[in-house]
This record gives sequence, C-alpha cells and structure tokens, in this order.
Amino acid sequence: MSELSGSYRTHYCGEITKDTVHQTVKVAGWVHTKRDMGGVLFIDLRDRSGLVQVVFREEVNAEVLEQAKHLHYETVVAVTGTVEFRPPDTINPKLPNGDVEIVAQTLSVLNPADPLPFTIQEAHKASEITRLTYRFLDLRRPEMWRNFFIRHRVILGIRNFLHKHGFVEVETPILTRSTPEGARDFLVPSRLHPGKFYALPQSPQLFKQLLMVSGFDRYFQIARCFRDEDLRADRQPEFTQVDIEMSFVTEDDVMSLTEDLLQEMFEEIGVTLSPPFPRIPFKEALERYGSDKPDLRYPLELMRVDDMFTSSEFRILGDAAREPSRCVMSIGVKGGASWTRNRLDQLTEYMKSLGSPGLFWIKFEKNGDIKSPIKKFLTSTELSRLKEKLDLREGDLVLMLAGVWEETCLLAGKLRERVIQLLELQPTQDWSFCWIIQFPLLEWSEEENRWVARHHPFTSPDPETLNFYPNHPEKIRARAYDIVLNGVEIGGGSIRNHTVEQQETVFKILGIPREEYEEKFSFLLNALRYGAPPHGGIALGLDRIIMMMVGAPSIRDVIAFPKTASGLCPLTGSPSQVSNEQLKILNIRVIPS
Ligand code: AMO
Repeated sequence: MSELSGSYRTHYCGEITKDTVHQTVKVAGWVHTKRDMGGVLFIDLRDRSGLVQVVFREEVNAEVLEQAKHLHYETVVAVTGTVEFRPPDTINPKLPNGDVEIVAQTLSVLNPADPLPFTIQEAHKASEITRLTYRFLDLRRPEMWRNFFIRHRVILGIRNFLHKHGFVEVETPILTRSTPEGARDFLVPSRLHPGKFYALPQSPQLFKQLLMVSGFDRYFQIARCFRDEDLRADRQPEFTQVDIEMSFVTEDDVMSLTEDLLQEMFEEIGVTLSPPFPRIPFKEALERYGSDKPDLRYPLELMRVDDMFTSSEFRILGDAAREPSRCVMSIGVKGGASWTRNRLDQLTEYMKSLGSPGLFWIKFEKNGDIKSPIKKFLTSTELSRLKEKLDLREGDLVLMLAGVWEETCLLAGKLRERVIQLLELQPTQDWSFCWIIQFPLLEWSEEENRWVARHHPFTSPDPETLNFYPNHPEKIRARAYDIVLNGVEIGGGSIRNHTVEQQETVFKILGIPREEYEEKFSFLLNALRYGAPPHGGIALGLDRIIMMMVGAPSIRDVIAFPKTASGLCPLTGSPSQVSNEQLKILNIRVIPS
C-alpha cells in the first residue's frame, strides 16, 4: 500500500513496477488510451505519477471486458487486478514500467468523460485558445505536471535556502497604492471611498523598503506582481517574483547572495553553476553585444570602430566618428565574403525595417580584391586598419552601422543576432549568466518628453557621478544591477536611497515637483526620516527562470492559469462585464467606446 494512495487505491499508476508483480493492487486514474482487440482490451491508465497498462481479458472476467469496451478517453476509473509480467513481445521500452501490466478483475467507473475537444496526447496540436479554454485538460499533459512539480521544488528550495540565510518571509498588500516600475497599474475601485482606487502592486518595492526601516534586516517574498503592459512570450500581466531586500549591504552582498541562491535553484534540475558570474558594465555590454541582456552563449562580438574613421571624408562614417554622441559599430563575419548580394540586400532591408538608416558592408575577397558599395569613399589605409582591428583575413566580411550611440549599439545587437542565425552558430554552453552593472540612472522617454528612471525612482545614484547633474543627466550612473541568463533578463535590483536628501535629489533629477512626490510618497519620505538603514535588494522573475529551466517556449507553460497574449482568460472569461448594480455601488459609470 503506497503511503499517499488514499481510500480509492493501493498504488499510484507509476508505482506498479516489477516489484509489485503477483500482488493484487487497486489503481485509479484517467483512461489515457484504449486498444480493443476483441477478446482482449488494453487501456493505459494515467495519474500524475505516470501510466500503467491495464489488460481486460475475456477469460478473466467477460462482463468487465464488456464494460471496458464502452469507456471514453479521460473517463475516471478504479481498477482492481493482479500485476503480471508482460509477454516479452509486448514489452514497451518507452515506459519505465513497460514490462508489467495489471490484469483487471474489477472496474468501477467513477465519472465518465464527454467526448474531448482534444486528446491529452495531441493537446499540442490544438490551438492555444482551445487549450486555455480547457486548461484543466491541458494541464493533464505529463510535461505540464513535470513543469509544475519542478516549479514547486524550486520554490521549496528557495524558501529553505533563504530561511537558512536569515531571511523572513513577509506578505505585503495586494490592495495598495501605485508603485512605479515603468508599467501601467491595474486599478481596483473602492466602494467605501467613492472615486478612489487601489492599485495592484507592480512589485512590493516600497513595502520591502519599509520593512528594512522596521529593522527586519532580511526579507523575502514569493510575490505576485501585476503590470498592465503589452504581453510577450516571456511576459504576463500577473507574474511571480522572488523578492528580496537586505539591510546594511552593498551591491556585492546582494549579488553574491543571489548567485548562491541561483546555484541552489539550478541544483533542482541537476545543473551545477559556477559563480561568480561575469559582471559587465552597461556601456561595455552595449558596445560588445548591442544589448543590456547579452546572450553570452555565442562568443561573436561587435566592435566599435569610430577611431578608424575620425578623419574620413565619407560623411556618414566620419561624422559618426567625430561626434561624441554618435558611433560606428561593426561586426566581422569569418568567411562572409562568400555571402551573396541577395543575402546582403535582405540583411540591409531587415536592418531598415528595424529603423536603421542602412547597413554598410565590405568584402575582403579571397583574391585580395575589396568589394563594397562604399569602397570609393574609403582610403586604402582605412580599409587595411579596419581589417586589422577586426582581425579579418581574405574571404571575410565586415558589416557596419553608424548613428546615435545607444540606438546604433542596439541595432548592431539585432544585427549580431541575425548573423548568429545566418552562420547557424551553436551555443558554446547551456547556461550563461552575467550581471549588467553601472547602468545609467535615467533614460529619455519620448512619450513623456522627459528623463525617467531606467529602473525605478528608489534606486540610488552612484554619488561619484552626481556632479553630471544638471548638464549631463544621461551620465549619472545607478547603483543598479540586472542578472541575465542566455539573453533574458531574469532579475534586477539596486542599492536604494536611504536618506530623505538622496531620495529628494532623485525626484529632483527626475523633474518630479515637490507637491507631486510628497502627495504620492510622503509615507516613504517619512519612513526615511525615522532611521532608515542603508539597504538594497533584488527581484528575480520566477516564471521566466522556471520557463528556461524546463525548456518551455512560453511563460504560459509554467503558470497554471495564464492569460492570452491579449490579456484574456478564455477559461473563466475574464475580464468580464459586471452588473449595473455592482457598478452603482462603486459609483462607476462605463462610457461605451
Ligand atoms: P523589475 O521590474 O526589473 O524589478 O522586475 C524583476 C524581474 O521580474 C521579471 N518580470 C516579469 N516576468 C514576467 N512578466 C512580466 N510582466 C514581468 N515584468 C518583470 C523580470 C524582471 O527582471 N522592484 C524591482 C526589483 C528591485 O529593485 O528589487 C522590480 O520589480 O525577470
């Protein structure tokens, strides 16, 4: 009798192995498949532990065989029978218990199933909407169970690890005030305070800082966060963070604790990580990889080559090289001289579709010739210096982009990704982590026409760079760090402003008027006045990490009841209309669009 089996059964299906041969057992589960051969009928019975073959034989019990013939897929049944070795020619090597079967003596139908919208084995062929509408069926897929079991194990490991390291788990409010993390808020109207709204937290950021002011010292939470933003394969409106905050720490303390935590988490899937992970300053990441989330599994790097063209008479390159806010980025492609004109034209079109004004290419042909649409604008010294700097030989190709620094670096990053695809480069390792450090505090928002915080406004500026305010706000650095895995941002954090003066300076740099920040954040400023220790922390995107650990193509595969790309839940039909009575109580009138 298995410990967890309950009253309906003696064993889980997966526990029926050769160790149980000749025993009489009772199993319960779902009819996964059925093969009717006349006088004998096989079903694969499934529960969360796996499958077991059940055979119904006329000579054992003709009535039960007849009953089994009418079973629909996914009907819930309980079977009593004797475990036997299968005849050698019917052994299924694909199943861990494929050498045994249960010879059924009794069958009880606990709940028949209607005809299915899709079978569990073929769920992957159903559309996503159908799968999400019948999520309870979709979740029956064994790989889904595996994903959620790993998720559970990882969360358990996180809790144990953090508990061991002195952290205390605290739940923070879901009905709260807006915490700016760069997305729109989901709002909840207040019945008791007509016209007022709660915001669902984009993160527990301010509450975890308040807990540091309260002297909790080390906090964590497996925290649900809500962000009303455009969805992608790795984004959901409702997601989970491993949220951490620590007092009396510097960047190094938070980063090394995070590395140890990630090491523990990856042990769950049998992967041994070897921190410390490389730390790459933001500027270097953009110039080497064209991204602040570089995928380091591919060693191909970009090269900034302005210095080749400072005296060039070719305006586009020369101006970009001479103007400090602009740059010339390049990528050397070994063997690329054999790329056809057609391929290069397609690549140029692709770059233009991303907003690049163009793409320059130069082929160093095998026979020593140089082919390029811009050859006549370049001197032979420039060409040979370029070739030398990029360590190119005859037969290689160089691709170049010129323009405003950040924009051009990011475009070069897209170009790098495309070249990696075209060269069919294979990753050199499975798991490649890195930290991105020394972020700029600010980024320019075209939408709002002002500087906004690149992380959030509670991030401390690097005091050594504060003198760039007000003339060069773009040069102020943040004490922030992001952790990146295989080109995906899996977490981010910072050292916070722990004095009122620091926090007010940041609000000033952000151009937020005193009345506004006092109205929104007086509780934080107040707390900072009453003895706030230096503190910092991080939040890891748990769903993203699990998605990568289990190799799922979408974050939806590791969230039990996710939303579609347009934010709908086809299962429950949310968001949905509410009754006029409900709206009236809330003092809300809907204006039809
Ligand atoms: P940040 O906004 O960088 O930082 O979020 C931390 C991590 O959460 C994950 N993430 C998401 N995952 C799924 N769907 C989303 N919509 C989504 N948005 C973010 C990412 C990201 O790296 N309060 C700060 C942390 C801090 O400073 O301590 C914060 O929330 O993996």
